Amino acid sequence: MSIPISIIQSVATSVSPASSSLHDHFRRRAIDPDPAEPRILHPLENEGLRLLILENISQEAVAAFRSQGYHVDHHTKAFTEDELVEKIGSYHGIGIRSKTKITARVLQAAKKLLVIGCFCIGTNQVDLEAAAQAGIPVFNSPFSNSRSVAELVMSELVVLSRQLFERAYEIRTGLWNKQSKNCYEIRGKTLGIVGYGHIGSQLSVLAEAFGMRVLFHDVLNIMPLGQAQQVESLDALLAQSDFVTLHVPESPDTINMISRGQLSKMKKGAYLINNARGKVVDIPALIEFLESKHIAGAAIDVFPNEPGANGDPFDDQLNSWASKLRNLPNVVLTPHIGGSTEEAQRMIGIEVSTYVSRYLGTGSTIGAVNFPEVDLRAITKDQQNQIRICHVHRNQPGVLKQVNDALSPYNVEKQYSDSKGEIAYVMADISNVSTTDDWAALKERINNTDANILTRFLA
Ligand SMILES: NC(=O)c1ccc[n+]([C@@H]2O[C@H](COP(=O)([O-])OP(=O)(O)OC[C@H]3O[C@@H](n4cnc5c(N)ncnc54)[C@H](O)[C@@H]3O)[C@@H](O)[C@H]2O)c1
Repeated sequence: MSIPISIIQSVATSVSPASSSLHDHFRRRAIDPDPAEPRILHPLENEGLRLLILENISQEAVAAFRSQGYHVDHHTKAFTEDELVEKIGSYHGIGIRSKTKITARVLQAAKKLLVIGCFCIGTNQVDLEAAAQAGIPVFNSPFSNSRSVAELVMSELVVLSRQLFERAYEIRTGLWNKQSKNCYEIRGKTLGIVGYGHIGSQLSVLAEAFGMRVLFHDVLNIMPLGQAQQVESLDALLAQSDFVTLHVPESPDTINMISRGQLSKMKKGAYLINNARGKVVDIPALIEFLESKHIAGAAIDVFPNEPGANGDPFDDQLNSWASKLRNLPNVVLTPHIGGSTEEAQRMIGIEVSTYVSRYLGTGSTIGAVNFPEVDLRAITKDQQNQIRICHVHRNQPGVLKQVNDALSPYNVEKQYSDSKGEIAYVMADISNVSTTDDWAALKERINNTDANILTRFLA
């Protein structure tokens, strides 16, 4: 990893004269960069890369792209399909959030497009299959908001066990109702975490800092953090927990994983929290258990059907039980805000812009959702005569033989390939290629192979 000059200089000026060898080392590095540092690669076509950035994506991401020399057109709004079809033809990359739809029609018009960055969690707004068929990897940021969700859950534990929303609502209506009956500290209580992934494990650490005992259940055997304990079954977790919080993905196994049977196994007076996915809890069953007071309270951030936009109603037309749930005491309902923080948006900006720049500059597809994930060790500054070939092709027999035949006059320094469904991707670094003549002929040979979708040359 290269050290920015400003850091090199500040370290160099802060060391004492006594540490002269360290001082010399940093001074030498500042004057004479390390030959083993990665070389920044550029497309051999030598066309400046243009990025279209929509939907008010974080300024950090835009600044990061500009600092790498990309031309960036930045718009705060989403584009319609027609606007995209009209404009996308001149861009090599596009950054969107959830409102811009990248359809097969848009992709057909995107003659130069190399990469799509979704600056959000989901990628449903992109026709992933059509993008892969066009040789375009799609990147997103599925885990940047884990901490935000974990912190929201911590707040919900306290809110539920202190009946905070009830008291806050009463006093807003002018009612003074000071009471301690059925209000508890969370210290010393047992938190049961279902799904010990990115969010569940962060939450485990925070809850222990509050003095809670943490149990978790996961389909995988996972090394517990701190004093947390993995329990062998969901039932064992339900039977022991004062609070049960769900952090599993939606899958055939998790739909309605908390229904009547599971609720009846929970301790009387326990609480349920769902910030995972709406279909994981059978809400009509939860309503029954809240009404009977078997469950003392619940916090729900996600619903089977959610309104399409801010201002749209959350009512019985959307979910037949909505008004019943809304009227229950000690139930905290939030509009899917678990991951919605400024910090998470910033992290998403940094993560996705890094993926996009890395793909454009090195060909790495690590983190792509619709593509085989391939990466190669960097070409270093002392390897001036090497070039990198990034070849996306249809996954069919005989392709690598054809590609390697084309590469056979050169020395292949390193090569890696992988496939995902119908798409395969090979990266290869070759040496002793003339970047003026040889590569164009080589490019033609590779472009003419049977299964070629898209081939780039970086040097
Ligand atoms: N409310 C929000 O705004 C918000 C924000 C981010 C994520 N989420 C949701 O939170 C959930 C968890 O996200 P994450 O990033 O921690 O996911 P993750 O993939 O890191 O972790 C999920 C864990 O659940 C486990 N798991 C899967 N099926 C299981 C089962 N049947 N029983 C027990 N464990 C099971 C997995 O092994 C994994 O360890 C996801 O559903 C995600 O969509 C919601």
